[in-house]
Amino acid sequence: MKKYLVIGNPIKHSLSPRLHNYWIKKNKINATYEKKKLNQNDIEQIIRDVKDGKISGINVTVPFKKKVIPYLDQLTNQAKKTQSVNTIYLKNNETVGHNTDIEGFEESIKYAKFDIKGKNIMILGAGGVVSSIIFALKNMGALSITISNRTKDKAEKLKKIFESIKVINWGNIPSVDMIINATSVGLNAEDKINLDFSKIQNKFFYDIIYNPSETNFLNTGKKFNNKTLNGKMMFIYQAFHAFKIWHNLSPKIDNEIIKLLDND
Ligand code: ATR
Repeated sequence: MKKYLVIGNPIKHSLSPRLHNYWIKKNKINATYEKKKLNQNDIEQIIRDVKDGKISGINVTVPFKKKVIPYLDQLTNQAKKTQSVNTIYLKNNETVGHNTDIEGFEESIKYAKFDIKGKNIMILGAGGVVSSIIFALKNMGALSITISNRTKDKAEKLKKIFESIKVINWGNIPSVDMIINATSVGLNAEDKINLDFSKIQNKFFYDIIYNPSETNFLNTGKKFNNKTLNGKMMFIYQAFHAFKIWHNLSPKIDNEIIKLLDND
């Protein structure tokens, strides 16, 4: 039986096993998918287990998406450019690090039927997933990308990779066509980003968080008549692409899948 894992720390709340095991069962694949809490010094061994065929694939989540890189034989272009790996597999006896968060984000935008081309986009936060979002937004033809992070230094680091982005101080929310919350503020239902969003009306509010399904950020967006989307579809599509790489087939995304991830 093939063995797959999602690694992170903390990992208790990951819904990846629920999703992958559902698809494994539906497609009658002889495999298991489990979550594993790791410490940084366990990374080398677990990647060696992929090389030795003991583990067939790994999803990587916070805080290891960058930390796994030194231990891999190869990176795909997407992983290289974003310095972020969320999917590991073995190809021609070499461990490969790939990033399906990019496609996950892109396809969630298509799902929402929003056209990024020519739009001014603002991202709040500069954590692990933001380089994937920038990469995807550029792919989709965004006109401008503005980043604001509480710790400005971290946003400046992203500018070293993506020179065309604009970094502004935390606090000022300009008028844009789309705003994305990529901070962890909202993971607790009572969390609130204490900024004035009133310049953004009849536009698009996107939150990477999907549990809770409606953060205060999305709720504020709704009050100003904006379209809103949470991170659930991005999560489903990144998993879809990892599954496709590992099992060489496209699992079905239907309402049952979407309901499967409803936790609140
Ligand atoms: P990491 O930074 O380790 O990649 P993450 O969960 O991907 O972790 O990112 C957390 C993001 O939420 C960061 O952008 C963080 O801002 P800082 O870089 O200033 O820490 C942001 N964040 C977390 N708590 C916040 C808060 N109370 N107000 C504003 N931003 C916050």
